[in-house]
Amino acid sequence: MSQYAYDSTVKPLTVNDLLAMKQRSEKISCLTAYDASFSALIDKAGVDMMLVGDSLGMVVQGYETTLPVTIRDMVYHTRCVSAARQRAFIIADLPFMSYATPVMAAKNAAKLIQVGGAQMVKLEGARIEIVRFLVDQGIPVCGHLGLLPQLINQLGSYKVQGKEPADAAKMIADAHQLQQAGAGLLVLECVPASLAREISTQLAIPVIGIGASVDCDGQVLVLYDMLNIGIGKRPRFSRNFMQDNATIEAAIDAYHQAVKQSRFPTAEHSF
Ligand code: KIV
Repeated sequence: MSQYAYDSTVKPLTVNDLLAMKQRSEKISCLTAYDASFSALIDKAGVDMMLVGDSLGMVVQGYETTLPVTIRDMVYHTRCVSAARQRAFIIADLPFMSYATPVMAAKNAAKLIQVGGAQMVKLEGARIEIVRFLVDQGIPVCGHLGLLPQLINQLGSYKVQGKEPADAAKMIADAHQLQQAGAGLLVLECVPASLAREISTQLAIPVIGIGASVDCDGQVLVLYDMLNIGIGKRPRFSRNFMQDNATIEAAIDAYHQAVKQSRFPTAEHSF
């Protein structure tokens, strides 16, 4: 039981609750979280999901990429976030090279769930066999397509993905394969609005966008970007919610309401 508990009658959302939100066209709000204090604020604002992203390597640890983040780092931060959560669904990233084989993926995912308290793990790319293996072991999985930050040394830069028709067609096929392999959610990062709309419409599972237009079933942003406290440049698809809000609580609430009412992201934050 969390020492931050503010209402013991509130239970954590489940993957079925998120699916039901998609089915009734209710937008799903998500923010990244890395520690107990922000976890409590985000949870209290009613944000539906918290992603313990390996973006923590860049915004918390100060690295240039997410590549140095270890499974130990991820377990530690996931534990911090879950300690203060009441309602929000918690997803934790499997970091770079922690899911190179199915067995390695299962061992590391188990740490995020058993020690960290995550309800689902996220991995990048169309790693269909790994996803199927994890789901067969009873581990809920979130896919991640589009811009894959763990591939930065192959990509060369962080840029919009799926602009060419062949790349778009492959992404649609990959999304279907992930769903068929048992993924319960899909994150789409930095993809054109028309492609994001296509994938969100075709899939039965919720699709959560970041730089992927308002037509996804939900939205996620890196917390430090939307609070404008990051050390790097804020990406074009993010918005500084502190600009019109006096407190962090108000900024998080404004983001949550804007997502729920489809007021964020606008065309300005989309591709
Ligand atoms: O690590 C992270 O924060 C993420 C989001 C950008 C989706 O994967």
